[in-house]
Parts: sequence; structure tokens; C-alpha cells
Amino acid sequence: TFVVGEDCIKCKHTDCVEVCPVDCFYEGPNFLVIHPDECIDCALCEPECPVNAIFSEDELPEDQQVFLELNAELAEVWPNITEMKAPPADAEDWANKPNKLQYLER
Ligand code: SF4
Ligand code: F3S
Repeated sequence: TFVVGEDCIKCKHTDCVEVCPVDCFYEGPNFLVIHPDECIDCALCEPECPVNAIFSEDELPEDQQVFLELNAELAEVWPNITEMKAPPADAEDWANKPNKLQYLER
């Protein structure tokens, strides 16, 4: 499966959802997740993210392993998203900032 990692938090550009052939992205207030049981590993979404937040689970950095469980858990409760929308107004300010997990809203 592919996994949405920390860099998506407070950025949420949503370019990724447009290309997913199986529509397996789910949307929270300031973050998106991929449903691990629905993702077909096509890799189309990975290069679409402007902040490089998406990883193959094999390439997920050590310090982001918690996001494997977070994607699985939140994909079960958040609504599906298939169309791109405007990112938060301050998305650029938060691009690739460290330690954003503390800002994750559920
Ligand atoms: Fe969707 Fe493919 Fe990305 Fe999986 S790897 S979330 S199937 S676009
Ligand atoms: Fe997040 Fe990147 Fe998609 S910021 S919403 S993973 S395009």
C-alpha cells in the first residue's frame, strides 16, 4: 500500500485524489489518508503531491512509521474524497515543516 505521511498535515493540496483509479483517499479536517485495503499500489499519486507527502509503505521513513496505523485507522472513519479542492490558505507556510503530527485534527 501507499501511505500519506506527515508532510500532508496542514498542506492538504488534494492533487493526489484526482489520479487514484480506485478512489481510496479519505479526508479529515487538515490531512488525507489512503485506505490500505483499497490501494492497488499503482503509484500514480506519489509524484502528484507538491510536498512529497506520499510514500510506498516500503519507503516510509523510520520516523513516520506511526502513519501506517493512522492511515488504516482514519480511512475507516473519514469520508471519501475524489475531487481536488483548494488547499488551506496557509498551506505554503506549512510545507515540509517538521513535527506536524501534533497538529493533526480528527
Ligand atoms: Fe490510489 Fe494508486 Fe495512490 Fe494507491 S498508489 S492511493 S491506488 S493512486
Ligand atoms: Fe496531502 Fe499531498 Fe495529497 S499534501 S492531500 S498528500 S497532494
